[in-house]
Amino acid sequence: MKPPRQFAAIVLAAGQGTRMKSALPKVLHPVAGAPMVRHVLDAVAALKPARTVVVVAPGMEAVAKAVAPAETAVQDPPKGTGHAVMSARAALGDFDGDVLIVCGDTPLIRAASLAALLQARCSRQAPAVALLAFSSADPGAYGRVIATKAGAVTRIVEFRDASAVERKVDLCNAGIWAVDGKWLFRLLDEVKPNNAQGEYYLTDIVGLARRHKLKCAMVIGDAEDAQGVNSRAELAAAEAAMQRRLRARAMADGVTMIDPDTVWLRADTRLARDVVIEPQVVFGAGVTVGEGAHIRAFSHLDGAEVGQRAIVGPYARLRPGAKIAADAHIGNFVEIKNADIEAGAKVNHLSYIGDARVGAKANIGAGTITCNYDGFAKHRTDIGKGAFIGSNTALVAPVKVGDGAIVGAGSVITEDVPAGALAVERAPQKTVPAGAARLKARRLAATSGKTG
Ligand code: UD1
Ligand code: MG
Repeated sequence: MKPPRQFAAIVLAAGQGTRMKSALPKVLHPVAGAPMVRHVLDAVAALKPARTVVVVAPGMEAVAKAVAPAETAVQDPPKGTGHAVMSARAALGDFDGDVLIVCGDTPLIRAASLAALLQARCSRQAPAVALLAFSSADPGAYGRVIATKAGAVTRIVEFRDASAVERKVDLCNAGIWAVDGKWLFRLLDEVKPNNAQGEYYLTDIVGLARRHKLKCAMVIGDAEDAQGVNSRAELAAAEAAMQRRLRARAMADGVTMIDPDTVWLRADTRLARDVVIEPQVVFGAGVTVGEGAHIRAFSHLDGAEVGQRAIVGPYARLRPGAKIAADAHIGNFVEIKNADIEAGAKVNHLSYIGDARVGAKANIGAGTITCNYDGFAKHRTDIGKGAFIGSNTALVAPVKVGDGAIVGAGSVITEDVPAGALAVERAPQKTVPAGAARLKARRLAATSGKTG
């Protein structure tokens, strides 16, 4: 997939994204948890460009931060895609090679599609301009590629500027280009804002190249790869497509998904082979799941590590810093945050374990809570190997329960329990023989007295 010549990449990210109707710059809207522009940069980076410049608008510090360490050029104010590329001119200086231009709003683009375009630029015909096109049954508002029967591109017309006949053309411009660096800025110098939006269109370089008798080629690519995101509905469509890809890759790598369409992954989700994912599981950022682990239905995992053969769920919530070691079990309605659950330990029902360690093979009874927050600061709970914590125990941190210790059900533990000790903290039970009958008689007498 190595491109034939050295190239610089320009990623366009300065557009306002008006159609998103959002305070967030368009390219920062996430797909599979990562900003759209990051997906674009990852695809570009796979081809090892000599330089990468991201074009941003004034005030888009958040975009600059998201694309770091790529350098940025400021387009002030944004006046169209051609103008955006011009804004990167100074940053590229005297760069000698091809220039790959990618829109920051095409998160599904793959490195292979970009490589095909760079290859086309260096084909025997050596077109000065190569662009990525795709056919679509529903070409919507994409720019239409007007080509001769022989396949030579003559011009691109934006949907708004297109005639009724041109709108019927189903060949679309993906907004992704490979241009000979010797010509790119010379052609852009000639672009005029003569169109419905009064903008400097990058697409006009096609017509201009032909005027200079330069060749203009197209690579017909995959419609999904080229999908642009301009609205919330298109964002949802891109998310769906990305999820399909991530699920397919996980399954190809040996993961079982009983109902893949209901599993939501992140680009950075790492699932080892023979992991089983039941329906309706949601992964947040940075989750790793070890070989043979089983994630049961309706669980939500975020920033967590799950060891080999561990069982999580159904209805479990793993929050950042949850480390579930091999063979541990986390059951229903259990929340784990910033805690090490060591090998073979069990937290099976209705518990909150936060800022804690649960030693190997310890058993945490139903309803156990680590009271980690006193209203001012967080404190740790440390539970030793093989300890047994009875149901409905409150462990008021900071507190330690030693190896092999037993805590009686319903206790509120505020002092350390040494290894091997038994701790019970609750009022002694009072049992009155035949007391139930006596109580009932008293109550009945009281009520009949009132109504009679
Ligand atoms: C653009 C193309 C269209 C193509 C479509 C593919 C032009 C004129 N139109 O239309 O032919 O079918 O992409 O998705 O090129 N941007 C800037 N500065 C600007 C304007 C835009 O950096 O002044 C950036 C945006 O942030 C975005 C990209 O350029 O990432 C494309 O802009 P957008 O407004 O989405 O163009 P489209 O209407 O989608
Ligand atoms: Mg767009």
